[in-house]
Amino acid sequence: MKILVIGAGGREHVLAHKLHQSPLVNELFAIPGNDAMSEIAQVQSDIAETDHDTIVSFAQEHDIDWTVIGPEQPLTEGLADKLEANDIKVFGPKKAAAQIEGSKLFAKQLMQKYDIPTAEYKEVKTKTEAQNYIQRCEYPIVLKKDGLAAGKGVIIANNLEEANEAVEKLYPEEDGIVVFEQFLEGEEFSLMTFVNGTYAVPFDCIAQDHKRAFDHDEGPNTGGMGVYCPVPHIGEDVLQQTNDKIAQPIAKAMVEEGTPFFGLLYIGAILTSEGPKVIEFNARFGDPEAQVLLTRMESDLMQHIIDLEQKQPITFKWKSQSVVGVMLASKGYPGSYEKGKQVSGFTLDGKYFVSGLKKEQDKYVTSGGRVILAIGEGDDIAKAKVQAYEAVDKIESDALFYRSDISDKAIKK
Ligand code: AMP
Ligand code: GLY
Repeated sequence: MKILVIGAGGREHVLAHKLHQSPLVNELFAIPGNDAMSEIAQVQSDIAETDHDTIVSFAQEHDIDWTVIGPEQPLTEGLADKLEANDIKVFGPKKAAAQIEGSKLFAKQLMQKYDIPTAEYKEVKTKTEAQNYIQRCEYPIVLKKDGLAAGKGVIIANNLEEANEAVEKLYPEEDGIVVFEQFLEGEEFSLMTFVNGTYAVPFDCIAQDHKRAFDHDEGPNTGGMGVYCPVPHIGEDVLQQTNDKIAQPIAKAMVEEGTPFFGLLYIGAILTSEGPKVIEFNARFGDPEAQVLLTRMESDLMQHIIDLEQKQPITFKWKSQSVVGVMLASKGYPGSYEKGKQVSGFTLDGKYFVSGLKKEQDKYVTSGGRVILAIGEGDDIAKAKVQAYEAVDKIESDALFYRSDISDKAIKK
């Protein structure tokens, strides 16, 4: 089969890496891809992931059998709709279903209607209303701007002063939708679920991301600074509850609402004293969750996609090893940072996945905030962590920073 991967980040790098290993895949293309993928895929960096018409023409010209869409933006903009309208198979939801990620409000209303456990919320439509609400709400309170924000549109305010600042930031003008949410306490985890209509199959391996920029979960929210799997201290009972109370009902709810989901539904959950509750849904693989989960996955991703399409049983096979991934990001991220800084010392054999590097005169230089994920594998999380940080140490650059406590939550327990 000929497969086209859409996207340019570390998630797409691992998707290409994993699909390349499939005996079902003969030819692999990536739009726009990144330079690190060019050893395993034909990278079309001249086509933008927002240029839907050109992507459709490309897929037709190259007889692409399946397109696998990595990032949220083309999904929420309807790339899957366009490809399917031209008889090209797509792994990824249509625009209407991708709203589950694209609109916090859509997701919240759906969860409320179908009794799916999540934080209580209030929709606030103007700055004035927000300014009034923060005078009387309970703290801490969580503010989420409606729409895509790459993990950076969420502010947790501990008191009125912080809430005031947050309102100023999230309402550049009087009108705008912000969802105010009850603050939930507990440990977060990410559950990837294959969904085709009412047929939902969660991975039987969960991952844990580290969203804050700095050690001990301090600093601003990011797209994700490091990740590991499996999560030994979040047991099978939690996975089962997440499946029964969240994964199965949300798949059915989407069908009932006339927006059936096909693709990978990311359940971002928090384990509260009342059980798992939804923090967010994403309409695609997590980044960097995909990098560790697909490294640990032994079974064939392409076969799983085909089985999902045909609603056949999906049996995952995982390596016995644990996997830890540490993100190296440009100094300054998630705020402003410099680009064009040289990075070397890494290999492209599955030990590193590249999100923000490009080649200039045979050297790799930074081109984004999150730059490269270093992977470690070991018999348990502690051993995998040692390997991951050894991989970090091999990277030469003075432009990057990383967290030093990735996976510690699993090691201390
Ligand atoms: P989101 O973009 O919705 O995933 O939010 C980003 C991060 O903010 C999450 O990963 C959590 O760490 C935190 N967060 C979001 N909503 C809540 C909530 N209701 N209670 C506690 N923390 C939250
Ligand atoms: N790692 C979090 C996300 O992909 O949204």
